[in-house]
Amino acid sequence: MEVAKLPDRPKVGIVGCGIISQLLLDGAALAGTNICAVCDADEKRAVDAAYRFGADVCTDFDAMLARPEIDAVIIALPNYMHYDAARRALDAGKHIFCEKPLTTSVRDSLDLARRAGDSGKVFQVGYMKRFNPAFAAGVRSLQDIGPVTGALFRLTVNGDPILEGPGIEAQSWHSDIRKSGGGFLVHSGSHLLDLMMFYFGAPESVYGSLSRDVNGNEYANNYLFKMPGGVFVTLQMCITRAQGFSYAGGIWEEKVEINGLNGRFFAEDADWKGLIPSRAFLHLSDGDGPKALFTYWESQWAEELKAFEEGMSRGKCLGSSAVDGYRVDYILDQLKKLEDSPGLIEFNYEL
Ligand SMILES: NC(=O)c1ccc[n+]([C@@H]2O[C@H](COP(=O)([O-])OP(=O)(O)OC[C@H]3O[C@@H](n4cnc5c(N)ncnc54)[C@H](O)[C@@H]3O)[C@@H](O)[C@H]2O)c1
Repeated sequence: MEVAKLPDRPKVGIVGCGIISQLLLDGAALAGTNICAVCDADEKRAVDAAYRFGADVCTDFDAMLARPEIDAVIIALPNYMHYDAARRALDAGKHIFCEKPLTTSVRDSLDLARRAGDSGKVFQVGYMKRFNPAFAAGVRSLQDIGPVTGALFRLTVNGDPILEGPGIEAQSWHSDIRKSGGGFLVHSGSHLLDLMMFYFGAPESVYGSLSRDVNGNEYANNYLFKMPGGVFVTLQMCITRAQGFSYAGGIWEEKVEINGLNGRFFAEDADWKGLIPSRAFLHLSDGDGPKALFTYWESQWAEELKAFEEGMSRGKCLGSSAVDGYRVDYILDQLKKLEDSPGLIEFNYEL
């Protein structure tokens, strides 16, 4: 279905028409985002993606940036290209929605976050779990459950390792540690870290450990984060060979559980793409038992793009900001130090 163009809404270009852009563009169609230009080095991919929006097609990102009528760009390129693409887009005066992780190096993420702050443009990072309706309901429930006595964020996956071993040529940038910046911890752990910060702010320290297989894949991640206000969060990311363990009978499951003096919040998701409805429960001390909080479905991809557009009209980022993106990359870098040697790390953010 072709989506009507709305002339009074910001004009948005997207660069990178691979796996994630299909989900982002489904979200854009639902949100009514004015996608007016589509760019990919592979012209056929760009043509296919542009069709339903009636958008212009190009294969050169600089040509897209040179168009003054384009207000904002969505960067859906491989991780190692984010820094350069986002810098050029900021220099061209565009608002930016950049897929996660912000970059593959803490230095570059810090530099980008500083430049984004100086630019006055909205810079949102694509941590869409903030817009998953079940997880968002948890933030709204914090007041009801009272002082937090403990929280758990956990991802369990069957057979996720993707990194190629030493000396093996990677089939794609996803499995090449130099281009992706890491495996399980980076592509999925980054999401959990951002979600944890969405609930409680930036952590002050961590105690924990990570274990890797021979190819460098992190398969057991167990951390205890000290958050502002003295809240403690257990964060686990575990690979298992078990089957059918999610509530939908699948092999991928993300859970958030927050216990407070007055009640307990619990949410779970069975599909990172958001195609299976996630669910959330609030269990208060009123004796009524757990109450389902979320009974309707919203696309996390559409919601994050609506927030990006709303942010442009209000002049501030309403999702995960460039500073959040830098902090996630900083924490990831610190966690890598815990390999095979459990320990305590205090965080010293530069932003
Ligand atoms: N939010 C999420 O949950 C989530 C999930 C998956 C991927 N991602 C992120 O999305 C980004 C893209 O991942 P993907 O899996 O879609 O990658 P992909 O390899 O499927 O797609 C990347 C696209 O970029 C194009 N490209 C490469 N170089 C280019 C250039 N110089 N100019 C124009 N186009 C170019 C490629 O042709 C390809 O179509 C990554 O940062 C990844 O981490 C986020």
